[in-house]
Amino acid sequence: MEQDTKAPTASGLDGIVVAETKLSEVDGERGRLIIGGSDVERLAGSASFEDVCAALWQVRGGADSVRAALGEGRVKAFERLPALGDALGAESGMDAIRAAVAHLRGDLEPAAIAAAVAVFAAAWSRVSSGESPLAPDASLGHAEDVLRMVRGVAVAKELAAGLDAYLVTVSDHGMNASTFAARVVTSTGSDAVSAVVAAIGALKGPLHGGAPGPVLDMIDSIGAPDHAEAWIEAELAAGRRIMGMGHRIYRVRDPRAAVLERAIERLERAGVSSRRLALARAIERAAEGALRKRHPDRPLHANVEFYTAVLLDTIGLPRRLFSQMFAVGRAAGWCAHIEEQRAHGRLIRPASSYIGARPAEPDSRSGDHTAQNAYQAT
Ligand code: COA
Repeated sequence: MEQDTKAPTASGLDGIVVAETKLSEVDGERGRLIIGGSDVERLAGSASFEDVCAALWQVRGGADSVRAALGEGRVKAFERLPALGDALGAESGMDAIRAAVAHLRGDLEPAAIAAAVAVFAAAWSRVSSGESPLAPDASLGHAEDVLRMVRGVAVAKELAAGLDAYLVTVSDHGMNASTFAARVVTSTGSDAVSAVVAAIGALKGPLHGGAPGPVLDMIDSIGAPDHAEAWIEAELAAGRRIMGMGHRIYRVRDPRAAVLERAIERLERAGVSSRRLALARAIERAAEGALRKRHPDRPLHANVEFYTAVLLDTIGLPRRLFSQMFAVGRAAGWCAHIEEQRAHGRLIRPASSYIGARPAEPDSRSGDHTAQNAYQAT
């Protein structure tokens, strides 16, 4: 068999290192995540989204300067809304923000792109429920203003802190699929907006960022802790995956699940009750047990999406907005990776192994290889 590489096929690129990065490290064996030099456990709850952006984007003026740039970016993105045509009319929020971001032009600064993703997500949320988009307040922190733009009213500090902890937790995560997509596009010399459009497309998929809505649907379908085991068994017997469980890299529980669980507990202590936390914990136990029985050699535990669903629900965000909130947080990492790829990366161009039909060998005596060569040149 001919191929353009002699290496064995790695269809999911598992374990293949495609870049050196200073942005984040995922240790799947020990369940450790470092973002911008700090453990995620330390960041969420103490650092703001602006702090993490400042670290990832290496902004000299630190969080204050990021806060000002994000505020200005939100105002500018809001001014663009009338020019977006029917982009925000899409039924799916991810389709809407992908189309809206695609309206932006060229090589915008990270803060301008991250701010635009947030404004477009909030605007879609309002438009899709028949309300007018709410203008940003540049004086507020990013998380607080995003929540205010979605809900249409000023929000309690503890709810804003809950969303801030979420955005920090998901801000970056190694060479995940959407980040890789952004880096591939950047590696061709293309612009940052195109890279983020590709990243949003990758994040939309249910195996990446599309899981938290279905996680909440699952929790609601199960309804009570006693029903969890039978429901999970039936789902697995039908050949379906349990959303919010399993991870390509983690062989232990995703550290972000614990961080988000703690954020929910903080909200509860502040008097914001989570209707689904106890049930979610029971479902996690049942799912772990059922998956352990079926896959004794492949540890499958809760991933970030499991408690994302519970946290965002507790904050009062509708489930149809969950994936867009993921994009709002991950935009920080995408923009940082775009800059890093640009500074240090090469064109990303892996190889494939051709297993299709082959033309008959050309007649070597005639010496006429013109047609075949012309085809290969494309
Ligand atoms: N439910 C049931 N079975 C699962 C599972 C899940 N959530 N996750 C993995 N498995 C099973 C697979 O069916 C497969 O079984 P098989 O070997 O009998 O075919 C085995 O575990 C290995 O799965 P594989 O597809 O190789 O793992 P992966 O690394 O490609 O997948 C995920 C990682 C995240 C895509 C996968 O765990 C998944 O689909 N999870 C649910 C979706 C989700 O929560 N996504 C958010 C990720 S942050």
